[in-house]
Amino acid sequence: ESPVISDIKAAIRTIPDYPKPGIMFRDITTLLGDTRAFRRTVDELVNPYAGSKVDKIAGIEARGFIVGGAMAHQLSAGFVPIRKKGKLPHQVVSVAYALEYGSDEIEIHADALVAGERVVLVDDLIATGGTATAAVELLRKLGADVVACCFIVDLPELGGAERLRGLGVEVRSLVA
Ligand code: PRP
Ligand code: HPA
Repeated sequence: ESPVISDIKAAIRTIPDYPKPGIMFRDITTLLGDTRAFRRTVDELVNPYAGSKVDKIAGIEARGFIVGGAMAHQLSAGFVPIRKKGKLPHQVVSVAYALEYGSDEIEIHADALVAGERVVLVDDLIATGGTATAAVELLRKLGADVVACCFIVDLPELGGAERLRGLGVEVRSLVA
């Protein structure tokens, strides 16, 4: 593990038993508040795309907006929000996905992308992959070329990254 990745990892706080007993919650707010760690995180996330054409960064609500905005700026790309149901004001495309109990829906503006645009999807963390899988489905419904999905944190024991790779998309995460 490189010193840069160790620094990023060290800046993430773990909260035991949040939001429920038995869950070790990986809290990135400490990383976001650490000047050097935040800059390094954004640098590491955009590095693979330096010199390649990325039209849009698609960020997943809510923490994917924070890193996604910074990535879009750095890559001179546009930013597209993928939001929980009912939050976007214009015409949307929706995809439902399963939660532990029940289901939820995420949405994207129908005119957020032009078919064929090269899009990198980002979120802070991948767990079961349910959210990111639904987000890839949304992007593909609009005809996007999903170049990659990237995350600060992967929880590999939950299998989300493997599930996403099964859709034929490249998956990158900084720490596990
Ligand atoms: C977290 C995280 C991802 C998702 C990952 O968001 O930021 O978006 O869960 O879980 P999955 O891989 O099992 O789908 P959360 O549901 O806490 O929503 P929030 O960012 O709006 O608080
Ligand atoms: N942190 C943030 N979001 C999450 C986590 C976590 O540990 N697990 C599932 N979603």
